[in-house]
Amino acid sequence: MRIKAAAAVEKGKLEFRELELGEPQLGEVLVKVVACGVCHTDASTLELVVPSPLPMVLGHEGVGIVEKIGPGVQTLQPGDHVILSFPSCGCCPNCRNGRPYACDSSSQLFFNGIYQSGGTRIKDDEGRDVGSLFGQGGFADHCIVAERSAVKVDPEVDLRPLCSLACGAQTGAGAVLNRMKPVPGDSIAVFGCGAVGMSAIMAAKLAGCSVIIGVDAVPSRLDMALECGATHVINGKECPDISAEILRITGGLGTNFALESSGAAVLVKPMLLGLAKEGLAVVVSFAGSVDLDMSMIFVGSCRTLAGTVEGAAEPQSFIPRLVQFYKEGRFPVDKLAVYYPFDQIHQAFEDSRTGKSIKPILVF
Ligand SMILES: NC(=O)c1ccc[n+]([C@@H]2O[C@H](COP(=O)([O-])OP(=O)(O)OC[C@H]3O[C@@H](n4cnc5c(N)ncnc54)[C@H](O)[C@@H]3O)[C@@H](O)[C@H]2O)c1
Ligand SMILES: [Zn+2]
Ligand SMILES: [Zn+2]
Repeated sequence: MRIKAAAAVEKGKLEFRELELGEPQLGEVLVKVVACGVCHTDASTLELVVPSPLPMVLGHEGVGIVEKIGPGVQTLQPGDHVILSFPSCGCCPNCRNGRPYACDSSSQLFFNGIYQSGGTRIKDDEGRDVGSLFGQGGFADHCIVAERSAVKVDPEVDLRPLCSLACGAQTGAGAVLNRMKPVPGDSIAVFGCGAVGMSAIMAAKLAGCSVIIGVDAVPSRLDMALECGATHVINGKECPDISAEILRITGGLGTNFALESSGAAVLVKPMLLGLAKEGLAVVVSFAGSVDLDMSMIFVGSCRTLAGTVEGAAEPQSFIPRLVQFYKEGRFPVDKLAVYYPFDQIHQAFEDSRTGKSIKPILVF
């Protein structure tokens, strides 16, 4: 079928294209996309931060309605409402252990534009292969995804505000609820109050954290952090000593947990120095390189630095939990949503870059 899609055609160049989408293959479904969020990872892919073969249709936070099922699909049928999450192979040791976020094939399935059973699903008019980011390519009116990645949701719920549950919100909330697992009364500092960080703040509030510190450089984002549950905020560009400020807020103890979701390497050291003894810092951004003194930062203070993908979540079980929290008003991701017609995708990217929109959502 013919689709209208936004594809990365060369480094930094995102263009609308009319393309040919094939048929869903074994274990895959064709989805009519209702909306798709813009995540920082779309911009990173466009800039080839992770080298990816182009052209590729970007977009990996799609929500939509199943239009057709491929052979062997058992859990979905046409008409089902779905949130399209990240791909995984289903058969490596971590997938078999319920940890698809640590799938052995993650990097190929996320960034190579191909599907688990091989190849791409889109061709251009010259018959050349066009990839689909995250085995999805949600910046298009239709896309093909693996059944494993499509999470069925209650058709009563408006799908559009829920795009970020596919990636950004799952990453932030999951980093807290699945990786850190705070208990009521714990403290946390969240570096970077984008969609990922803001979801971590909401999750920290849900988990009963007593001190929740949001760090960002955009004043409107700091205001939103307070609205989402932060108890304190720090302007990371204006504060002369961020770790000292965190120690002051926590009565000299430091925070039990910290999340790095800013992508700014300069914040990593203050984040670690602001951690309490035995504290755990989780990095989800592509923050680049930092120079750290092991003995001073880790050994004496028994701190841990960890990385994680997609909030250490198994999407088929975690996303429905987030939807339930959303329905109960305890995970208000709709506060972060700013809607754009699909045609305004370049504006949506620009507003994400400048910090004007926390979660731009393209509506089809
Ligand atoms: N590991 C994963 O699975 C995963 C999934 C989704 C996103 N990500 C990554 O997580 C990160 C966050 O994603 P997002 O969509 O929330 O991005 P975003 O760009 O909306 O948010 C980043 C925030 O950090 C702030 N920031 C940047 N530099 C700063 C500085 N020096 N001081 C203070 N604040 C600063 C920005 O103002 C912005 O609010 C990105 O790097 C993204 O690629 C990772
Ligand atoms: Zn993402
Ligand atoms: Zn796997």
